[in-house]
Amino acid sequence: MALDSHAKNAPEHVAIIMDGNGRWAQSRGKPRLFGHHAGARRVREVVEACPDLGVKYLTIFAFSTENWKRTQVEVAGLMSLFRRYITKEARALKDEGVRVRFIGDRVRLDHKLQTLMDELEQLTEHNDRVHLTIALNYGGRDEVARATKRLAQDVAAGKVDPETVDGETLARYLDTHVLPDPDLVIRTSGEARISNFLLWQSAYAEYEFIDTMWPDFSAEVFGNVIAGYCKRDRRYGGVRA
Ligand code: IPE
Ligand code: IPE
Ligand code: MG
Repeated sequence: MALDSHAKNAPEHVAIIMDGNGRWAQSRGKPRLFGHHAGARRVREVVEACPDLGVKYLTIFAFSTENWKRTQVEVAGLMSLFRRYITKEARALKDEGVRVRFIGDRVRLDHKLQTLMDELEQLTEHNDRVHLTIALNYGGRDEVARATKRLAQDVAAGKVDPETVDGETLARYLDTHVLPDPDLVIRTSGEARISNFLLWQSAYAEYEFIDTMWPDFSAEVFGNVIAGYCKRDRRYGGVRA
């Protein structure tokens, strides 16, 4: 079954919109933050499943540029969870060969969290078994706008000839510039929207919207989604060979 999908057509890069933590908690009569903690505990299992599934890059959406609209209690709880998560998981991530990167605009995050993010990136920078990218204060439009601003600055400084600017040029200014485009984007919790995630990079991604709430997303569910992906026919605007 799922593990046989370690085939040549396994997705190299899987991106996940980890949605449904709040509803998962509320359906159990618990506060939303209880769901966020349960969701964070799922991440390790999913990362560890990647090598057997043939997945080299995993990108997870942890906090969007729109999530600041939530209550102060929820936002503060999430920020505290991110600090705790990084502190607690750093050693295991390093030992398991996981290279961690963060994408998103760090400027609005508190300094302690920014420092922890920088340290985790440095601690794991020589790892190559799985590349885990965590999107934190990330929004696809914000990313393209920030990239465009830096590109415009380089044009104004005479470093880039505007006549040469194409899609590849812009992609080099994105937070994801070192990552391949995602092959598969999974969203949990039954919502069928992308909520500003990897807008540019997902131009040809396959999408899978599943009803499972993120805290229930197990390695087995992950394997089944990957197995389904492996049966798909990607044409990129061409015709089947
Ligand atoms: C996803 O779960 C986690 C974050 C957005 C931080 P939600 O918190 O969106 O959970 P629901 O969608 O309200 O159930
Ligand atoms: C998307 O989920 C963001 C993350 C999973 C971090 P949301 O729950 O914020 O998305 P909407 O509001 O339902 O579109
Ligand atoms: Mg949600």
